[in-house]
Amino acid sequence: MSTSVQVAIAPETPAQSIEAERLGHRLGLPLSESLASGPFFETKSYLLVLSCKRLELRLTGPDAPGPIYVDFTGGPVRYRREHGGGRRQPLARAVGLKHGLTPNVLDATAGLGRDAFVLACLGCRVQLIERSSILAALLEDGLRRAAADSNIKSIIIDRMVLIRDNSIEFIKRIKPEERPDVIYLDPMYPARTKSALVKKEMRILRGIAGKDLDAPLLLEAALKKALKRVVVKRPSRAPAISGPPPTLKIKGKKNRFDVYLNN
Ligand SMILES: C[S@@+](CC[C@H](N)C(=O)[O-])C[C@H]1O[C@@H](n2cnc3c(N)ncnc32)[C@H](O)[C@@H]1O
Repeated sequence: MSTSVQVAIAPETPAQSIEAERLGHRLGLPLSESLASGPFFETKSYLLVLSCKRLELRLTGPDAPGPIYVDFTGGPVRYRREHGGGRRQPLARAVGLKHGLTPNVLDATAGLGRDAFVLACLGCRVQLIERSSILAALLEDGLRRAAADSNIKSIIIDRMVLIRDNSIEFIKRIKPEERPDVIYLDPMYPARTKSALVKKEMRILRGIAGKDLDAPLLLEAALKKALKRVVVKRPSRAPAISGPPPTLKIKGKKNRFDVYLNN
């Protein structure tokens, strides 16, 4: 996270005050007593808002976009689960999902967990690693709510595990007998999309997570530990992450997957 970014936590109503204070303490964030007050309600600062429904992150200021939160149960994520193309979709082909082959995946750049959820829906066991404690808190909240939804409960509980850590360090510590089949990377990249929703999310995500300038080091660590392959998601026209060239490239509608085979 950029050092100039200010984040506070606020309860949406007094009923969430105690829980918000507890979470703020765990995340090392100051408490803003209410949504509309406090020193943090300035341009370019963020509020993590706890409501009775969910945890969400808001950019404050006059032209701030709407909040971001993790929702595996509805909206675009649900649509993608139901109509996303199953094992034929580019992400599935990139990680090597085939008849009878369902690799386990370490998603080293979990973000809002969407790609990880797609892979879990397709049968993969996924470890999600996120270094931003704020994004990890949003993910934890989304996973908890999704685990209470009878339609996707088992996908969440049986196949998704969240760990807050820096993946470069985490990957270096993986023991030989624990190596994942696939390591998946989707580091930040400047948005080149016309979608207002994606732009809004990217603006908030980048403000919190930063630019992921250490992606080459993450790729280097991943290449040493993935049993079968490393997959990197890139915008269609972006160069590959600096390092060895990918073995193959799989084109998606909006993105490209660079695949580095390890065997
Ligand atoms: C573009 S987002 C990933 C979006 C994700 N694929 C999704 O479907 O929601 C990149 C995320 O990777 C995280 N990240 C980047 N480098 C990391 C590292 N070394 N360790 C852990 N997380 C990292 C950032 O904090 C950010 O949340």
